[in-house]
Formats: sequence, C-alpha cells, structure tokens
Amino acid sequence: HGLPAVYLSRAARRGDPLARLLRDPAARQDPYALHERLRDRGPVTAGALGPVTTSHAVAAAVLRSDAAGVGWDRSQAPAPIRWALRLGDELDATGVAEPPSMLVTDPPDHTRFRRLVGRAFTPRATLASAPMVRRTAEALLDDLAGRDGVVDLVGAYAAQLPVLVIADLLAVPADRREDFLRWGAAAAATLDAGLSPRRYLAAERGLRAMHAFLRGHFARLRADPGDDLVSRLVTLDGDEALSERELHATVMLLLGAGFETTVNLLGNAVVLLDAHRDQWDALREDPAGWDGAVEEVLRADSPVQLTGRSLTRDAEFAGVPLPAGTRVTVLLGAANRDPAVFADPARFDVTRPNARDHLAFSGGVHYCLGAGLARLEGTVGLQVLTERFPRLRVAGTPVRRDLRTLRGFETLPVALR
Ligand code: HEM
Repeated sequence: HGLPAVYLSRAARRGDPLARLLRDPAARQDPYALHERLRDRGPVTAGALGPVTTSHAVAAAVLRSDAAGVGWDRSQAPAPIRWALRLGDELDATGVAEPPSMLVTDPPDHTRFRRLVGRAFTPRATLASAPMVRRTAEALLDDLAGRDGVVDLVGAYAAQLPVLVIADLLAVPADRREDFLRWGAAAAATLDAGLSPRRYLAAERGLRAMHAFLRGHFARLRADPGDDLVSRLVTLDGDEALSERELHATVMLLLGAGFETTVNLLGNAVVLLDAHRDQWDALREDPAGWDGAVEEVLRADSPVQLTGRSLTRDAEFAGVPLPAGTRVTVLLGAANRDPAVFADPARFDVTRPNARDHLAFSGGVHYCLGAGLARLEGTVGLQVLTERFPRLRVAGTPVRRDLRTLRGFETLPVALR
C-alpha cells in the first residue's frame, strides 16, 4: 500500500471502508464493523486501493492461485527502504534492508527456499520443543509472581515468550537474550505496512546490530554445529546450501514473523477469555479444550489482519475478472468472520467445531511455516498462565497497537490474583 497518505485520506473521507481502516487508527480499534460494510458490497469489491475481498472462499482461492504472486517490488517499498537499498553492497550483503526472505519470494525460487528451511524446521523439531516452551513460560511467570498490583501482561509475558522461544531454537547464547528482545521488536516493526520512515530507520539500527551478531553466530555454528535450527541451516551443503544473504533473511523472518504475531495471539486471547469468563473457567477445568480455544482466538481476532497478492496474469475470482498486474487485498480477519463458513461469526466460542478452518495462517504456498510452533506457544503459554494465576483478570483498559497489518495489544493491564 505504497499510496500517498493524502490519497488514502481523501478516499477515507469519501467513505471507502478499507481506506478508513488503513488511514484511521480509531477505525482500526474495531475493524470488524468496517469489514461488514465491505462484505455487503460482494465477495470482491473495488475500493480506493483496488479489489479487496472479505470472502473466505475468494481469499482461499487467491492465496492458492498460481496466477497470484507476492508482488514484492523494490520500487513500491517505503522511501527509506528504497533509499537503503540504493546504499548498495554493504546493506545488500547483510540483507538489512528488507532482505528477500521466502515470504516475499515467488515459486520456483520460493519452493527451494521453503523446502530447505522446512527441512530444519520440522513438525518433529517443533514437538520436541514443547518442554522448553513450558519451562520458558514458567520462568517468566515465576518472575511475575513476585509482583503486586497491576502488571502489564504484554510487556512482562506475551512479548517475551515468543522471542525467548525463538532465541532458544536459534541457539542464541543466554547473555545475548536481552539484545534479542530488542532486535525482535525491530525486526517485527519492519513487517508492518504503515511504518513511518523515522520508525523504519530506528528499527534498521537494531537490525544492523543483529546482523553483525548473526555473522559471528553462523561462523561459530558452522565450525561447531549443535542440534539446533541454525546449525541445521548453516550446514546444508552443495546444491542445497543457503547463501549468506538467505541465511540472514531467514533468521530475521523467523524472529519477526514468530514474534510480532504470537505476542498478539496471547494478548488477544487473554482479552477475549476475560470477556467470556465462563469459557475461561471451563478451560481451567478441562485443559484439553485449549487447542480449540487457540483456533477460535486466531479466527475471531486474527493477529495478521491482511495480506495481498499481485496477479501475474489475468484471472477471475467469484466471477469478477481482474487483469494481470492487479493487487488484490485479502482481509484475513474478515474472511475468518465470513458467515458462509462460520455460523454466527461474531460470537466467541472456544468449542466452535470448525474454528480451525480459519485463514489466520494464510493459505497456499506461503501458509505459515511456524503455525505448529505458534499453536504450541499459544496452548502452552495460555494453559501455564491459567494454572499459575487462575484468578487473573483484566484490570484497566488494554491499549491496541497502532499497526495496519497486525492486530494486538501494546499494553494489557492485569491483576494476577
Ligand atoms: C508466514 C501468520 C507465527 C514463521 C505467515 C503468513 C501468515 C502468518 C498470515 C503468510 C502471509 C502471507 O500469506 O502473505 C502467523 C500467525 C502467527 C505466526 C498468526 C502466530 C499466531 C509464526 C511463528 C513462526 C512463523 C512462531 C516461526 C518462528 C513464518 C514464516 C512464514 C510465515 C517463515 C513465511 C512462509 C512462506 O513464505 O512460505 N505467518 N504466523 N510464523 N510465518 Fe507465520
């Protein structure tokens, strides 16, 4: 959405619901009302920004279509990224400035990239990390237990758990974990569509420090590999080897994509469960329900609200012909409340039978590589929190983060007892 702000604001004043969502922080507090206005216009509707879909069927079709690419285009990048890219080799070598990670790569390059990273980041490896996730959550809650009064659950827990987990998976030494928390915030900031040049440059400073650390980290693990994700990535060889640039891009993606999304899942979950206390109590009685509860949170308040695809050739969705080059906006958060798929979609129900049909992890070739890990962090993170503080409740007004793509809380005041 590289359109000038003035264009967006004009479109918003004319009543374009999507332009309002992207433009107006107040409107984003409750995007779902605007989604319904878009839905009333049909499965594919034309807005100021081109076609947009709120339909689950169309969203799934676009994400799975081989006529739809990620459309990553340097010339469309925010000004500071273009500026940084022009600085040339130094940045290019470290991949600081929006490195071409798999998320912004189309097949066939994407296929190779994803296969190699997927080989190191397997469902089995994820499952094996369950005890570590639990230990990490418990250690954070031990620290919290000593605190009285109202605590910010995002700062003290939800924002820390995902970064500490990924730092462990990436074999980051304990004395660099604090740095990793800062870099995680920086990496995540660069993922948002609405980042200002000032914030981008601040984030970039953090990322430079991270890439400097990673250069040494890769060299150490190449010389003396362990049983961790990074060791598996840096020791791929021959045709399979990932370039230095691809390695940097991958770790930054794992950190950014794994952090900024999971923090939102945890925060959104606590706010929804607090508002539906009976359902939270039922989960405390029967923890087997946590898997379903996490799916319902992902559906009802999706951490990634939107994505987009660019058509590489003419295509048709829901009978609407779209020419090559069109950028289609896919409102994942709206697709997840499509009444054609989810009965009474605004209702939060942790026992909803088909909650798992949501598109919160996207679909097609870019389906979230970390979905298994995210689900693990969600179920374990929430279950441990509930065991430890069964009377925890929201105590104050949670403040939403002001982001366009992602949806979650900046601060979440809770009373633990
Ligand atoms: C891709 C959501 C957690 C790693 C994606 C996409 C979405 C998503 C929507 C695809 C975007 C698109 O199609 O344009 C989420 C949500 C999470 C989460 C909601 C948590 C609740 C994680 C975690 C990791 C991770 C924990 C790893 C540490 C990735 C990667 C991709 C990806 C590597 C790129 C896959 C590809 O391009 O082939 N995620 N994610 N994500 N995610 Fe996640």
